[in-house]
Amino acid sequence: MSTSSSAVSQLKNSPLAGNINYAPTVWSRADALKVNENDPTTTQPLVSADFPVMSDTVFIWDTMPLRELDGTVVSVNGWSVILTLTADRHPNDPQYLDANGRYDIKRDWEDRHGRARMCYWYSRTGKDWIFGGRVMAEGVSPTTREWAGTPILLNDKGDIDLYYTCVTPGAAIAKVRGRIVTSDQGVELKDFTQVKKLFEADGTYYQTEAQNSSWNFRDPSPFIDPRDGKLYMVFEGNVAGERGSHTVGSVELGPVPPGHEEVGGARFQVGCIGLAVAKDLSGEEWEILPPLVTAVGVNDQTERPHYVFQDGKYYLFTISHKFTYADGVTGPDGVYGFVGEHLFGPYRPMNASGLVLGNPPEQPFQTYSHCVMPNGLVTSFIDSVPTEGEDYRIGGTEAPTVRILLKGDRSFVQEEYDYGYIPAMKDVQLS
Ligand code: FRU
Repeated sequence: MSTSSSAVSQLKNSPLAGNINYAPTVWSRADALKVNENDPTTTQPLVSADFPVMSDTVFIWDTMPLRELDGTVVSVNGWSVILTLTADRHPNDPQYLDANGRYDIKRDWEDRHGRARMCYWYSRTGKDWIFGGRVMAEGVSPTTREWAGTPILLNDKGDIDLYYTCVTPGAAIAKVRGRIVTSDQGVELKDFTQVKKLFEADGTYYQTEAQNSSWNFRDPSPFIDPRDGKLYMVFEGNVAGERGSHTVGSVELGPVPPGHEEVGGARFQVGCIGLAVAKDLSGEEWEILPPLVTAVGVNDQTERPHYVFQDGKYYLFTISHKFTYADGVTGPDGVYGFVGEHLFGPYRPMNASGLVLGNPPEQPFQTYSHCVMPNGLVTSFIDSVPTEGEDYRIGGTEAPTVRILLKGDRSFVQEEYDYGYIPAMKDVQLS
């Protein structure tokens, strides 16, 4: 048996990070075999089909609370702010009528990724969000899709760096600087006019479009390492190499039970959590580093990775889907976690399997795109909730917030809160 695509990334002489030496943590098939969709401590409470929607005119999905580089979720002059991926709903567009002339909301929802726009919302209460509009005017972002990222409040002047993904054509991690202005009436995000592309997949550590036309490269989440004080970011990638060339060897298998060596087409699933380091805290120049976690032979998508630093530990979370698992392993849509004592790892899959909070089997698509905040609150959006028979109701709105407890390598679901409850952990008064 051969090892491994994951062995590629060992030592890097990095101009920005210095001499670093780490091997990615392998999320193995043996780990993933421990995923239990019926463990009540890692299952999100059922979302009722009579949920309220935030807006009749737009769908929202990935939600990005305004935060500082240490991860703190902030309000500004008493206003909480979130960004969402957003797309218009088309209830009256002939293109989205079904054979009976009725609005086909399911098709409209499925099509949303192609017209995703970054919009913002604000609130005095951390819920009851008021729509603010687009962050960037039409034409500012250089590609057709504005995909997920992270808005960072830089200082008490109100400057914001929005890290996000410019998609189609290509996929580039980018940032755009603007600012927040508040009044007693509300919030405005202004001057997000100059987009800077930071980097694309390199083909050495991260798969490129040329290596695989359905490559995944997106979702930057910058942070300051509490230990070394440097600015890094994690992002979603795939392990570099031509599609089909990866091997699922003994390392990727892990200590599997007898008879598990036949892995079907699992070599096609090559997700990883990527890392990059910035030259300095301005975040203007970045260098790509080897992945932190690889999922070769396990899962093709480790999306929206992000950190919570707690009790001297590095909790690295990522979202993933049932449909992106490899042959012979499975798990729910939801958030997965890896925990370690150092940024460069090694990491251990949380709860032994990686699963932290998954959808209940009877409502497998109820929520997605979970973001775990440092206060243990987890926000996500409602995707679809079963109604009668085979039918289901499309969400496109915030799900109830859930709190999880992080205890060493384990997590436990605790309380449930209101829809879209994202309270600030700290208020910043602008000077
Ligand atoms: C997660 C996600 C992100 C991506 C966006 C595209 O829901 O797939 O990875 O940035 O949605 O709509």
